[in-house]
Amino acid sequence: MSRRRPSSTGREAPALATLLPGAQMRTLGPQDFAAWRQLRNEVISGLAHPDMYMREDDEAAFFAQHLPPRGHCLGVWLGDELAAYAMLDLPEAGAPGHLGAAIGLAPREQAGVAHLASCMVRAPWRGNQLQALLLQLRYAMAQACHRPRCLAMVSLHNAASRHNLLAQGMWIEWTGTIDGLRRHVLQIDLRGAPRWDLSQTRLIAGDDFAQLCAAAAEGYAGVEEVCGGARPVLRYARRLPACGSPSAGDGAEDAP
Ligand SMILES: CC(C)(COP(=O)(O)OP(=O)(O)OC[C@H]1O[C@@H](n2cnc3c(N)ncnc32)[C@H](O)[C@@H]1OP(=O)(O)O)[C@@H](O)C(=O)NCCC(=O)NCCS
Repeated sequence: MSRRRPSSTGREAPALATLLPGAQMRTLGPQDFAAWRQLRNEVISGLAHPDMYMREDDEAAFFAQHLPPRGHCLGVWLGDELAAYAMLDLPEAGAPGHLGAAIGLAPREQAGVAHLASCMVRAPWRGNQLQALLLQLRYAMAQACHRPRCLAMVSLHNAASRHNLLAQGMWIEWTGTIDGLRRHVLQIDLRGAPRWDLSQTRLIAGDDFAQLCAAAAEGYAGVEEVCGGARPVLRYARRLPACGSPSAGDGAEDAP
């Protein structure tokens, strides 16, 4: 049995200057659309597998949707070059595309959700922990917006992104098909770290769609990557009940 490291709230985000000297961060506004689109064109055309990221039909609408009040977009700049961006979406409960629906959240709970939406780093600037930093900062923004439950959708082909989200305290809540695409939904609840029962776990290959779906349907969550590389393997575990809960072993969620 183990309590996972509460990376979401208990850790200071590293300073950008130590990760990428000379870089600056600021939130993006309407004037940054061209730089954002250029970055995306470059990154999407270089993806190792097309399923890793499906471009939105209307890029301008997608960008606008992640500006206040509906969301926020952080940008990392090196001079005039946008090196990376990351988006936070604050969806309305019951809105189309709300990831809370995919994982079975009631409308009341959906109101407390933030989506950790798209994050991209230009290839020359990868390997500097920028996605990790941008995750930590979006956790803080989500909390400030009273959206303590963060959800993120990830392609099964996107092992690097899944690795980084798991490393920042998220867990795979659900795996299935969204809009015809095989996707994970990862979750973190910033109100408290869950405890996992590691006495009975499952090891599942990161590309074994049937087993990944079945594990989630049986109340297991993907809690860590036990081996990376060409064929990542994931550890699945059930939640321990909250202390004092009579519902031991039923997969009940921790009190926040
Ligand atoms: C995903 C992305 C944002 C991460 O950028 P980054 O912060 O620079 O991180 P890196 O790409 O350097 O990630 C490297 C980490 O992933 C791990 N990784 C890479 N490939 C992996 C794989 N196949 N399986 C498991 N882990 C993998 C590395 O070991 C490294 O882990 P570490 O930091 O613990 O050493 C960036 O790769 C990117 O822009 N990709 C294209 C766009 C995209 O897919 N965005 C996410 C969906 S919107």
